[in-house]
Amino acid sequence: MQTKLFVANWKMHKTVKEALNFLNDFIPAVEKIKDREIGIAPTFICLESVGKAIKNTNIKLCAQNAFYEKKGAYTGEISPVMLKDLNVEYVIIGHSERRKYFNETDEIVNRKIKSCIEEYLKVIFCIGETLEERQSNKTFDVLKRQIEKGVEDIINPDYIVIAYEPVWAIGTGIVATESQIEEAHGFIKERLKNLYGERAQAIRILYGGSVTPENIYSIMNTENVDGVLVGGASLDPVKFSKIVKYEEQIN
Ligand code: PGA
Repeated sequence: MQTKLFVANWKMHKTVKEALNFLNDFIPAVEKIKDREIGIAPTFICLESVGKAIKNTNIKLCAQNAFYEKKGAYTGEISPVMLKDLNVEYVIIGHSERRKYFNETDEIVNRKIKSCIEEYLKVIFCIGETLEERQSNKTFDVLKRQIEKGVEDIINPDYIVIAYEPVWAIGTGIVATESQIEEAHGFIKERLKNLYGERAQAIRILYGGSVTPENIYSIMNTENVDGVLVGGASLDPVKFSKIVKYEEQIN
């Protein structure tokens, strides 16, 4: 059994003060949890203060992006070396918003993943089809291409977590059905097995897209779901703690 992973992707939300206020409520709500991993990905400017606030807790520091070069004349960018220096453990790479608004190609995503792994940062590698791609039956071609190009030349998959995030489910309130998730995760698992053989067993596959306290239980009980990447609902400490403690709501 894999350790389940629950990651908050705060996107471009929360000032430092707001981030610390969140943690005042969230840390005590989850402090007893030992059997799963919890991560928070704030904006870059909150990383240091969030990192200090969660030191010695069961919450891991995550980043939303990284550039592929280690240093240099790249105005506005942040390198994996800098993230490692702040004790970041996981970096989200290839999120569909990065692909869409910042023109990140599969090739760029691949370079970023490699660069993070070189610094021993674990990567949450996001893939997923658009609505148009799903409607024209291209979902599996897209997932196959994104996986194969994203991990090209990466021999060791130990630092990789996949997040399947159908673009049409992100921030829309439309969650993928259990059978859609099961089918996509099963396909991803097969592709990874083709690439990595038995080592693929260790690669966790998260679901992301309109996860809420209301739908988390059924998502977590779907085959091959090893955790979730949560946007909107992770901004609220009560909602995100309910997601992390999803079994408790059932009783
Ligand atoms: P959402 O975002 O939960 O707001 O749909 C998920 C994500 O983009 O990671």
